[in-house]
Order: sequence, then structure tokens, then C-alpha cells
Amino acid sequence: MKRKFSASKGGSAQKKHSTDKKNAAKEHSGWWGDGPVFVFLYDKREKEAITNGKAKEILQFVNDSEQVLHESEALRIIRINNEYSHPVLFVDTGKEVGLNLLDHLRMAGYRLAKWAENNSVKTLMIPPLKDDSPKKRNAILQGLCHASYAFDKYKSKKHEKADVEYLFADDMEIDGNSLQALFSGIDIAKNLINEPGCNLTPGVVANIAKGIAQKYGLSIKIRGESELKRDNYNGILTVGRGSKNQPAMVTISYAAKHKKNIRLALVGKGITFDTGGISLKTQDKMYEMKSDMSGAAIVLAAMQVIAELKLPIAVDAILCLAENRPGENAVLPGDIFKAKNGKSIMVENTDAEGRLVLIDGLTEAAELGATHIIDIATLTGAIQRALGNAIGGLFSNSEGLALTITESGDECGEKWWRMPLDEEYTEGLKDKVADIRNITDGGPGAITAALFLKEFVKKDLQWAHLDIAGVAFTANGYKYTEHGATAFGLKTIVETAKRYSADELR
Ligand code: BES
Ligand code: MG
Ligand code: ZN
Repeated sequence: MKRKFSASKGGSAQKKHSTDKKNAAKEHSGWWGDGPVFVFLYDKREKEAITNGKAKEILQFVNDSEQVLHESEALRIIRINNEYSHPVLFVDTGKEVGLNLLDHLRMAGYRLAKWAENNSVKTLMIPPLKDDSPKKRNAILQGLCHASYAFDKYKSKKHEKADVEYLFADDMEIDGNSLQALFSGIDIAKNLINEPGCNLTPGVVANIAKGIAQKYGLSIKIRGESELKRDNYNGILTVGRGSKNQPAMVTISYAAKHKKNIRLALVGKGITFDTGGISLKTQDKMYEMKSDMSGAAIVLAAMQVIAELKLPIAVDAILCLAENRPGENAVLPGDIFKAKNGKSIMVENTDAEGRLVLIDGLTEAAELGATHIIDIATLTGAIQRALGNAIGGLFSNSEGLALTITESGDECGEKWWRMPLDEEYTEGLKDKVADIRNITDGGPGAITAALFLKEFVKKDLQWAHLDIAGVAFTANGYKYTEHGATAFGLKTIVETAKRYSADELR
């Protein structure tokens, strides 16, 4: 995916939205001619202009004009006598409900880009917004960037996209490089998550990680089966035993120094396919379990973005990679293994595998000297039932880290809801034979999974666990994703790392 950002001489930020293929000129009425189409944003429900100045005066046309040239979804194109003598495109930023202003702007940008692409429009001119700010403009540009993603490598006919240029009509500075860095990370994460399980084994992910580490000069350690055995990382080994594709743990380190010596660890669940193992899943939507490595993809991509942005903070990314499937050597329900910290674990259900690989990552993070740990995982169906497909589950032993994550998420269009880590439920994890078991008898599954992890986190570390099982993958589309990986969580993690780098501690 090629995306270009540039700033014109006058310092006005402009984004040239460029795509791999030149658009085969489509038939269209051509009433917008060759000049730029002026875009005004308004909120239909609030009857309010988001665009500054002139838009307010002409807003009445949004509701009254009889010269509507086009109306679909929340786009309305009207011919009016304006100083540009071009049609004006109105984009309703209030179409979606329940989003904050920045996310409304992302959605408007997304719909705008889709419309422009389908209508062979060459240039869109976006006038200043009401109470304009780089953040607001950045949100519109994010929507445009989201619109240009397509996972079409397996299609014989590729997604053809128009070469549309988006211009802001004044000088406000926008950090195009940051946006570019973020979206190249989002592309990487989505491509990994969307890739079928047959082509994306733990070894393949490790190799891709190696390529990224080399490109950015980051140190990387890849542990295969024998190194995992040597270092007692038995959770990943146990889960990976059923597959001929070896499990792995990948640790990438970015060692910029932080003023207060914060060392942030990012731990990702990387089950390249989750069949459930011997406790086999049912067939319904099982294909979606190719996305069970979303956490690992996100921490790898986050690492790339952080390195690209050269944030002043030390970060380790730990990818816990295995394929969970039944096989001759697969772990059996009732099997017991010893974790690196000495605790014995009864695998009562082989489908509760995510927590088994994550505890190795959490241990590795502590060994590297982490002061703060964020793990991210498609961990439980229970979080999907509790919070649905729009909100991720957040668990944390630290008020400050939890607040930073929710506030970062709000800014990025990723909603998090803090869940309780109530010790009362730890009781259910006690086992009759081993020290701890990997499931409980019913109960709040997302909470008990988080409590299981907590047993393996040192008390003096600030730790947050993000359960993205409900939000990582969309079959029928969600916000700016039509189908497939959303990379939900990546923006939040990058924003959190930015805030920690800038010492904006809560
Ligand atoms: N990968 C799944 C969780 C999941 C469910 C992710 C739906 C995305 C969408 C996880 O490994 C799993 O199977 N969890 C079990 C745990 C249970 C056996 C305690 C679950 O949630 O059913
Ligand atoms: Mg499972
Ligand atoms: Zn899983």
C-alpha cells in the first residue's frame, strides 16, 4: 500500500492519497468537472457545521436545496453558486452514533475517500474546520488512510483505487510522518492477521519479525523449541506440542533511554491458528481463529512504529508464538506442566491456551527489567459476550496505567472498558492436583483468565492486560474495516508509548 504525505511550500499540509494502480477512468456524469471538489463537514443530527466559516451560511442548503446532484449514505452533493463555481460535497459527520468527535471525523474521512475513489474525483479540497486543530485534521486523514487498505493478495482481480489528492486549504501543520509511520504499522499488523494459518506459522512470523528488527537496527532473540526447553518456557512449548510447526518466542528490544528509566514491555498472544487442540472447537466461524495471533502482530507493528518515531523510551516486544492443534503429541486435558516460575499448571482445557503462552512472555518481560507491561491477546469469548465488538477489555493492577490506556484509546477511536481483577474469583483457579488450573467451572471467563495471568506478574510491576477477542476481527465490517483484521489496540499502544515517552504519566 503506497501512501504519500507531503507539505506544500507554504507549509500547508497536504496528503496525496496514492495507490498502486492508476484508476481505469470510470464512467461518470462529470458534473464536478476537473477542478477540486470542495468538502464541507456537518452534523445532520445536530444541524451543525463542523467546517468553519462559509459552510455555516450555506448549511441551509444541506436541508433545503433542490439542486441536490447526489445523495447516498451520508454524502450529499449540491450545486450552489459559490465563489469556486464547483459543486460542494457535504459529508455528514453525525451519521454514526456513539462515537466521539475525533472518531466521527475519521468515519467522515473514510466515507469521503470511498466516495472519491468510486467517482474518479481527482482532488478534494477540505476547508478549515470549526475550532480547527492538527488533531482533528489528523483524524480526517486517518479515515482516508483506513479507506485505502485492502487485503487482496489472494484475489485474481485486485482492488483498483483512484489516485485522489486531498488538500487542506490553509497552512496548519500536520505531522504527516507520524501518520505515515502509524499506518505502515497498521498495514503490517492487518496483513499478518488476515493471512491464513497455513501460510503464517510461528516460524514465518519469527522471520518477518527478524526482517523488521534488521531494518530498524533492533536487537532480536528468537527462541525455537530447543531454546524454549533450555530456558524453561514451558507454556509455549506445551501449547505448540500438537503441531509439526515449531513454536517460538520472539523478543525484540528497542533501547532508547527514558528520563525516568521506564522500560515498557509489550507481550502479544501469537497463536497462529487456534483449533482448540484436543478440546477441539466447533466448526462455526473457526476460520476466524487465524486471527488468534492479533496480539503478537500488534506488538510487532507497535515496535516498528515506535522505532520509526524514535520515541525516547526503552521497549521490549515479546511475541508468544504457537499453533494450537490436536496431534499425536498434543497436550491432553489433565496434563500438568511446570511454568518457569515453578508453579505447576493443570491444563484442564486445551482451548484455554492463550494464557499458557502469555505467562512465558510475562516472565520474559520481567527478566528483561520491565517497569511497565502491557499484554494484548484475543483471549476469551467471554469478553466478546460482555463488551461486544466495539469495546476492548482492560484489566490492570495500576490506576495510572489504566487511565493512560483509556485516555489514549479515546483519542484514537479505540474504546476500552476497565474490568475488575477481583481476587475473590482467584479461588476458582485452584486445582486439586496442581498449583493452578487453566480454567474455572463457569464464572466470569474474561476475569478469571486475567486473574490467571496476574498469578505470573510480579506485584511491583505496573501491568495491563488487553483482551481484544471481541474487537480484533470483523466478519461483516466495523467502522473503517470492511472485513477482517481491525488491528484494534495498535493505536492505543503507540499513543500510550508516546505519552510515557513525553512523561505524561497518570
Ligand atoms: N482464541 C480463543 C478466544 C477467542 C474467542 C478469540 C472468540 C476470538 C474470538 C481462546 O483461545 C479460547 O478458545 N478461549 C476459550 C477459553 C475457555 C476454554 C475457558 C473461550 O473463550 O471459549
Ligand atoms: Mg483457545
Ligand atoms: Zn486462542
